[in-house]
Amino acid sequence: RAKAVLPGRMVVLKGTSSESPPPLFLMHMPIHYFLIYVSLSLFCPVVSQNLVTDNVSVVEGEMAIISCRVKNNDDSVIQLLNPNRQTIYFRDVRPLKDARFQLVNFSDNELRVSLSNVSLSDEGRYVCQLYTDPPQEAYADITVLIPPGNPIIEARDEVLSEGNETEMTCTAMSSKPAATIRWMKGDKELPGKPKVELTYDKMYTVSSRLTFTVNKEDDGVPVVCIVDHPAVKDFQAQKYLEVQYKPEVKIVVEFPQGLTREGENLELTCQAKGKPQPQRVNWVKVDDDVPSHAVITGGDLYIENLNKSYNGTYRCVASNAVGESYDDYILYVYDAPTTTPIPTTATTTTTTITTIISYPEANQDSRAGEGTPRTVDHAVIGGVVAVVVFAMLCLLIVLGRYFARHKGTYFTHEAKGADDAADADTAIINAEGGHTNSDEKKEYYI
Ligand SMILES: *[C@@H]1O[C@H](CO)[C@@H](O)[C@H](O)[C@H]1NC(C)=O
Ligand SMILES: *[C@@H]1O[C@H](CO)[C@@H](O)[C@H](O)[C@H]1NC(C)=O
Ligand SMILES: *[C@@H]1O[C@H](CO)[C@@H](O)[C@H](O)[C@H]1NC(C)=O
Ligand SMILES: *[C@@H]1O[C@H](CO)[C@@H](O)[C@H](O)[C@H]1NC(C)=O
Repeated sequence: RAKAVLPGRMVVLKGTSSESPPPLFLMHMPIHYFLIYVSLSLFCPVVSQNLVTDNVSVVEGEMAIISCRVKNNDDSVIQLLNPNRQTIYFRDVRPLKDARFQLVNFSDNELRVSLSNVSLSDEGRYVCQLYTDPPQEAYADITVLIPPGNPIIEARDEVLSEGNETEMTCTAMSSKPAATIRWMKGDKELPGKPKVELTYDKMYTVSSRLTFTVNKEDDGVPVVCIVDHPAVKDFQAQKYLEVQYKPEVKIVVEFPQGLTREGENLELTCQAKGKPQPQRVNWVKVDDDVPSHAVITGGDLYIENLNKSYNGTYRCVASNAVGESYDDYILYVYDAPTTTPIPTTATTTTTTITTIISYPEANQDSRAGEGTPRTVDHAVIGGVVAVVVFAMLCLLIVLGRYFARHKGTYFTHEAKGADDAADADTAIINAEGGHTNSDEKKEYYI
């Protein structure tokens, strides 16, 4: 069997792969039988014909198969005519000179003919004729499919900036029937605006225009134009987006990890990423000058020996062709950490006195400043220490008086009892009743 494919054409018929299309009659046989069955069961009771055939769609350059089938044949003559009603085959004889027509099968029940290298001019209505009385005819319409040329994407802009609108056009040339075009950006389908042109040779050129706004996530994403046509499969073209965007800036604190304290060092790194990549980054201090001894190398800012006068907003600025961005770091320099230990209650009297003296001062501070936690701490600690010490002093005094009084009473009893009594018992009895001597006792402890 002759079989010809136009060079450069990608041809697919009814879902088979373009690489090796199997013989058409094999492909179509089950469908045909189904169609015969359907048409027979639908039309036979009405028209009572026993001659059937099928329409054929064929890709240009491929082979078409025309099959005239007869049911319950009573030896009637069968023939196949072309659209101009010239006889192609009369039984198994070919009067027509066109050698592209070849007999595939001839039997009582079928006349099967192949037509190779189909061209557009072969399109039309072919006729199967059965010489019964009256004669019967069945029609096979051959439709030639012409696949479109490779789709071509034209982009208005080669390089884009984020937020810009861009336009792309995809064209599929000269197909029959008209192709349809779909667009995908990454895995998202986008709607295009189609335009169909019918050319002088009855072919269709289809183009689709796509307009959309790009953002920086679109950089490197493919835009795909997909062409759907019965004669082709997986027909597409793609173009990768190149989107420029302004830098993204981020300040990273390298040192210190905790509070920034006076006398310590500060190291900041500025990270900037953009397209195109910013050439350099710039450190500035908002509404002020960067300390004169600060060291700036590349994206790094290094300040030694922090001082409260350095606090403020430090800004890292990066720019490229698209725009400028910045990130801020707010520096607040805290006091250097205190080295003097907090006084404890176990300290000497001298320390305690000092604390008591300093107490009102601290209290005043906290009232006036209301601000730093340090002043409040001092005031509270001072107050607590003072109260504790005062309480201890009071306790000492009370204890002192208590011991002194007991000692005095003892002496009084002994003195009184010993002087007046004849024996020890009498002395105690005398002492218990000796309230009159209370005035004398006072002089021991005052
Ligand atoms: C197929 O037909 C075209 C014209 O329709 C012709 O130019 C071409 O040579 C033919 N190819 C083969 C393989 O016969
Ligand atoms: C064949 O195609 C024609 C239109 O070209 C249509 O009217 C007819 O019903 C078709 N026949 C079959 C069997 O599908
Ligand atoms: C901070 O700077 C001021 C002058 O701006 C200076 O008087 C002061 O001593 C500095 N403090 C420290 C801890 O270096
Ligand atoms: C810097 O911090 C000090 C307190 O540590 C504050 O008095 C001063 O107003 C701050 N200056 C700036 C510019 O923030």
